[in-house]
Amino acid sequence: MAINYDQAVGFYDETRGYRDGVVERYRDALLAYSGLDRSASVLELGIGSGLIAQAFLRAAPEYYGIDLSLGMMRLIGGKLEDGSRPHLAQADCAKLPFAAASFDLVHAVRVFHHLADWRACIDEARRLLRSGGVLVIVENLPPAEAEPPPWAVAQEKWDQILRRLGVGDDGIQHGIWLTDEAMSQYIASTGASAETAELLRYREKPVSPRMMVERRVAGMFSSDWRLHTSTRREAAQKLVAWLERECEAPDELVEREMIFCALIARW
Ligand SMILES: C[S@@+](CC[C@H](N)C(=O)[O-])C[C@H]1O[C@@H](n2cnc3c(N)ncnc32)[C@H](O)[C@@H]1O
Repeated sequence: MAINYDQAVGFYDETRGYRDGVVERYRDALLAYSGLDRSASVLELGIGSGLIAQAFLRAAPEYYGIDLSLGMMRLIGGKLEDGSRPHLAQADCAKLPFAAASFDLVHAVRVFHHLADWRACIDEARRLLRSGGVLVIVENLPPAEAEPPPWAVAQEKWDQILRRLGVGDDGIQHGIWLTDEAMSQYIASTGASAETAELLRYREKPVSPRMMVERRVAGMFSSDWRLHTSTRREAAQKLVAWLERECEAPDELVEREMIFCALIARW
């Protein structure tokens, strides 16, 4: 079943938003890397609440976005001061409601790991791109060489608790990631070049172990939405007990370095 982000409307921007200036830097890096200027016709897959879109709309008004979640897309309007609006459609990435050869650039940020049918999405992007167009699949990932931040212990503890409650690997980690060879191999099999790139590095907003635990308890991680309610509740109680009794620095705030990592396909 497709993921339902309507349940994230109340907390998405607060917990997943970027610091000032990051999305503008992403926009400029993406256009430069793609060899496009601000007149490019752009489609964003999984536009969500418009965190990324807002930077493009300030620079170039012709911007299209699709998402499954109407609730998330309703948040977009509140971010735009000057009346500029993206062209929005409620749609699945695997079946896009646009004519062939409509766009110069199709991009998706923090979306592909949710897609069951990610191959169909790549096929659709290919269909929609004009000659010379580019598909850019983006995830925010930590640098490979980075030490885990202090709050990572809360994440590890959560996974351990879930395992002890009988949740299998597919209930803890799921989805396809840029780092999985399967994605670049599939792109290559369709006749495209597939290259990876680091578009930019940035600092996340500060987070502590306690904040991570509170977000788990409140059900703010999409990876937990498939858990049975009773499992989630029991795991949350155990995680809170661990925070109170064992976590060494529950309030240590850290601004983790992250990267906009991209997989770029050109047909
Ligand atoms: C983590 S959010 C990312 C939103 C936005 N790209 C950002 O970076 O803030 C993932 C988004 O992908 C959307 N999504 C997930 N699966 C989808 C699908 N099959 N088709 C369209 N949108 C999908 C969700 O509704 C959600 O808005």
